Amino acid sequence: MEKFVISGPQRLHGEVTISGAKNAVVAIIPATLLSSGVCVIENIPNISDVTALFKILDHMGAKVRLINKNTVEIDSSEITDPVVSYENAKSLRASYYFLGALLGRNKRASVSMPGGCNFGVRPIDQHIKGFEALGAQTTIDSGMINARADHLIGAHIYFDVVSVGATINVMLAAVKAKGLTVLENAAKEPHIVDLANFLNSMGADIRGAGTDVIKIHGVDMLHGTSYSIIPDQIEAGTYMVAAAATGGDVLIKNVIPKHLESITDKLIKAGATVEEFDDSIRVSRTGPIHRVNLKTLPHPGFPTDMQPQFTAMLTMASGTSIVTEGVWDNRFRYVDELRRMGAEIQVDGKVAVIEGIEQLTGAPVKACDLRAGAAMLIAALMAQGTTEIEDIHYIERGYENVVEKFRGLGAIIRRQVLPDPAMPKAL
Ligand code: EPU
Repeated sequence: MEKFVISGPQRLHGEVTISGAKNAVVAIIPATLLSSGVCVIENIPNISDVTALFKILDHMGAKVRLINKNTVEIDSSEITDPVVSYENAKSLRASYYFLGALLGRNKRASVSMPGGCNFGVRPIDQHIKGFEALGAQTTIDSGMINARADHLIGAHIYFDVVSVGATINVMLAAVKAKGLTVLENAAKEPHIVDLANFLNSMGADIRGAGTDVIKIHGVDMLHGTSYSIIPDQIEAGTYMVAAAATGGDVLIKNVIPKHLESITDKLIKAGATVEEFDDSIRVSRTGPIHRVNLKTLPHPGFPTDMQPQFTAMLTMASGTSIVTEGVWDNRFRYVDELRRMGAEIQVDGKVAVIEGIEQLTGAPVKACDLRAGAAMLIAALMAQGTTEIEDIHYIERGYENVVEKFRGLGAIIRRQVLPDPAMPKAL
């Protein structure tokens, strides 16, 4: 077990390079199962979610070979054991993308109910609705989701809620179905477009990704490909907010500024200066943090995965901010940790009211989940004194080289190994 120890306050300055997108790569790695050739994928972030997915592929009998730190070659042509066990699925939500990928490949799939961050109930009814519309039968038995079909036939599917996971999973199952599948009320996140581009580079015929209607003409076979993952919108947004929150000046490189527009807009309202270049963005702030109201929404709205980081910044805004969570039922659990640092926040259901204070103070806190952990990092950099963040394994699920990247921006942060509670103390 390890924790981060951070001394603040510290203005961030300098340059940071953004890694490949977690939420794209966690769909694209399972998608390689649909290919009958070898896939070379570049710009893979070195994060624990990726390691977990490689382990699942390896258990299935696929050949996974690291060409260098951020490039992998995957040959899934021969699969011996197309099952994802509880042991392998429990750490991450994205393990359920093996359902769509295996169904598309073999017409049958057996995957343990997924794990991942806990934001309250996380149903998968829309995934199941999509699989069944394509002709699959699904059952849930002893914690395993099983899907099988004699044939997958294209269908017209209207999602009752906008769901990233259901859009991706049904796209994976439909790509080799017979005929045309139309997904309506589809999610429009950049990682949906990246997955569609990846599948099209293997010979799929997917149009409309990035809009709410996606049309998929099924093909018989998908070949190998070489593909580079897009930059991570949320990692970029996290460093943008960290720069603004600390009154810093940071050039964030390897980004797609268009993906960051909703974050940029709110940062400018909060008093930051944001300059956009072709593939980088510079964020600085000299004046006070202004109060901001925001509501999270599916893309292109303000991303829910940036809500905790923004809330952390607003704890030191001048005035009262209102943050409304529009995607998840229960994504304010981390607020208790910010309160330990002196933040004044009231939560009522999906609404948080944040009274800006003069100064946060360092405290021992924990990362409740991935983005909550990122919020703690930002709060620690703003706070006076030392903050110790426990449960950092959540942060490492989604942020590559987070200590090195923050240190490169001037943060005083170190990783400390915690004593194993099971070990007897030395006399
Ligand atoms: N929903 C349903 N039924 C379903 C699926 C979803 O009602 O069958 C509801 C959910 O309960 C939620 C809403 O729809 O209220 C949106 O859920 P969605 O399916 O879009 O979320 P997800 O696919 O489980 C992905 C990201 C999350 C991100 C959300 C929203 C991955 C692996 N995860 O989750 O990312 O918060 O989309 O953008 O792509 C993170 O990176 O920290 C993270 C949690």
